[in-house]
Amino acid sequence: MTINPTKLPESFSKLSASELNGIIKRIKAKLGNRLLILGHHYMSDAVIAHADRRGDSFGLAKIAAETQAEYIVFCGVHFMAETADIVTRAEQQVFIPDPTAGCFLADCARIEEVKAAWQVLRSVSDMRIVPVTYVNSGADLKAFCGENGGLVCTSSNAAAALNWAFGRGDKVFFFPDQHLGRNTAYRKGIALDEMLLWSSDLSASNSEDVIRRAKVILWDGFCIVHQEFDSDYISRLRREDPQVRIIVHPECDFDVAQSADDMGSTAYIIDKIKNAPVGSHWAVATEKNLVNRLKEDYPDRRIEILQTFEPACQSMAQISLARLAFLLAQLERGNLINRVAVDERYAGAARIALKRMLELNA
Ligand code: 13P
Ligand code: SF4
Repeated sequence: MTINPTKLPESFSKLSASELNGIIKRIKAKLGNRLLILGHHYMSDAVIAHADRRGDSFGLAKIAAETQAEYIVFCGVHFMAETADIVTRAEQQVFIPDPTAGCFLADCARIEEVKAAWQVLRSVSDMRIVPVTYVNSGADLKAFCGENGGLVCTSSNAAAALNWAFGRGDKVFFFPDQHLGRNTAYRKGIALDEMLLWSSDLSASNSEDVIRRAKVILWDGFCIVHQEFDSDYISRLRREDPQVRIIVHPECDFDVAQSADDMGSTAYIIDKIKNAPVGSHWAVATEKNLVNRLKEDYPDRRIEILQTFEPACQSMAQISLARLAFLLAQLERGNLINRVAVDERYAGAARIALKRMLELNA
């Protein structure tokens, strides 16, 4: 993975939004089909307005795998751009407006720790264990899954990924997001006492015997943004309006997911509200930019965020209009900054794990 953090020069940080919009539009028109701008649903309105395609992690990975564009500019966080690089061809290049835009959740699992846990799991059980990584993870973890008979999943195909894994093994080792793993496995009928939250300390609650009995071993990662939602708030809303529909992202914790009416990826949430009746009331547990855009797009439904404040993803917010304009201005000059190029040591095996996901019938 090559990171080339380039400082935003004052000549760009001082430009007005309309000047930045003008630069972006001009370069997009000039580069035409050579350039594809992808935008995750958590981008600000200012940035997403320039995206050729919008989507959730899965949708954007699929678009990246199919595009012919020479330059793919990924308006999202780093692991998403890495995924795009892995699934595109060698002659295509992926860029990100700010290469330091990481993901708290992806950083919860490091390859050395995961490998150490894998050794312990393999040594205490002769059952077949299939590793599954959430796409919010480094390319090295995706490669680990590719090498060990596992796959990648996103929030939109985690159930299908678990089915795939249980078709090939007796246990699933799921990382880094414990909540997506737990919420998805529980919906599949796996009881909470058949799931184990991994800890390297083999104490009584996590003994070799407990490991042997567990069907799903969960890493202890989480998303700080989605931990801001709580089930007490859901009870309060339901008291105020029994008709309210609660829809949450599966990165929310178990209580929130259990108290909700529906759960799904960012694209699923948008689709559900788009197709909801006029006048319906929705409380949504996910990042504020998505929820605020839903409010603007569907003023004839009552839409609110499932909290008294607006949880925001600071990493996504790093992708600003000024950074997008600056990156495009560099690409126009042939100055290929902020390229996301996954190390060949990981790309091959990570591609196998991603290909397994892209072939799932989710
Ligand atoms: P989606 O795949 O649902 O877009 O989620 C990505 C993410 O990072 C949510 O926090
Ligand atoms: Fe990562 Fe959470 Fe931000 Fe999604 S919302 S990109 S999981 S930190």
